[in-house]
Amino acid sequence: MNLKNAPIKSVVLVVAVIALSLLYSLMTNGGNGALKNVKNVSADGSTTVSSTSNVSLVGSTDKPVSMSSATIAKKTDHPKFVGPLLYQNSGVRATYQQVQQGQTLFDESCSSCHGAYASGTDRAPNLVGLGPATIQFWVSTGRMPLSNPIIQPIRKPVKFTQAQILDIVSFVASQAPGGVLIPNIKGVSSATLAEGASLFDINCAGCHTITGAGDALASGAYAPSLHQATPEQVAEAIRTGPANMPRFNPGVLTNAQVNSLVKYVTQGIQHPDNAGGWNLGGVGPVAEGFIGLLIGVGLLVLAAFWVGDRK
Ligand code: HEC
Ligand code: HEC
Repeated sequence: MNLKNAPIKSVVLVVAVIALSLLYSLMTNGGNGALKNVKNVSADGSTTVSSTSNVSLVGSTDKPVSMSSATIAKKTDHPKFVGPLLYQNSGVRATYQQVQQGQTLFDESCSSCHGAYASGTDRAPNLVGLGPATIQFWVSTGRMPLSNPIIQPIRKPVKFTQAQILDIVSFVASQAPGGVLIPNIKGVSSATLAEGASLFDINCAGCHTITGAGDALASGAYAPSLHQATPEQVAEAIRTGPANMPRFNPGVLTNAQVNSLVKYVTQGIQHPDNAGGWNLGGVGPVAEGFIGLLIGVGLLVLAAFWVGDRK
């Protein structure tokens, strides 16, 4: 074995290793730094996003006219009608016309299972009092209407336009006030991606996996992929807890934290920005770490042979 050049080669090697690790941390921090830096964000520590004072109906193309409860109540003939129909925390109300159109749609597509006034039958549960967010979530993700009431409802092509969905929401909401209103997600643009990543890690990844790909649950149910949900649907799922998913009340996740989660799911997960790191096919941090380890060990072995330089 010839160790004459070993000292010089060792110095070269150390410099090379330092340069490589610097390069590596530069590459990975851009993409995954969000996941690394935020482990200790407290569960209720956020004050970044302001509240729901805006009055627009998120995601809708039509503009519901504000009506007094008296106006609606006088014109309606629903036996269980109770009053003003709030869509959203902000105070947007449905019009009587929306309620009427919604009743027609409900008769055609929902009443066979849920009953003429949404109060449920032996085929399907009561919907009265669940609130606009629950109705909108199930219809806008295509879960409803169902064709076979036995299987777990899954996301499928939506049967209605956005305006028609709001009509149905209006009709069901006209039967009872309250429930979970359609979340206002205006604050999402100013929410923090890093906080969303941390909250997702803690609250959601256990079921939906860290990449949002989805996974089977012990109960036999399936936590679906999060790659298709719209911002509004993510917020609605969090607040209403569809089927086997738990519901996260404002006492557990603040509106600002929901906004951060919405941002992380619809940007970090659905459109990962890989500019700052290598995308190894999104197979997940464990697998990607393992691949990194394999490459690293291989390089070390080569380096050892080079320093030793057998002749
Ligand atoms: C073929 C029967 C059937 C039809 C038609 C149907 N549903 Fe359902 N619906 C069900 C069943 C069964 C469930 C319970 C599913 C579950 O929890 O897994 C359900 C659940 C729901 C839920 C969730 C209730 C909750 O407690 O969270 C909503 C909201 C809903 N349906 C709305 C509608 C609307 C609106 C329509 C019409 C556009 C509709 N459904 C049409 C059978 C039906
Ligand atoms: C205990 C497991 C569990 C946890 C924890 C959980 N989910 Fe879910 N999630 C589910 C299940 C199950 C469904 C499907 C519900 C159904 O059948 O309608 C679902 C559905 C969803 C959907 C609808 C997806 C689509 O495209 O239709 C979204 C969005 C969602 N979850 C987001 C979240 C977020 C964000 C969190 C964390 C705050 C979270 N979930 C935590 C189990 C879970």
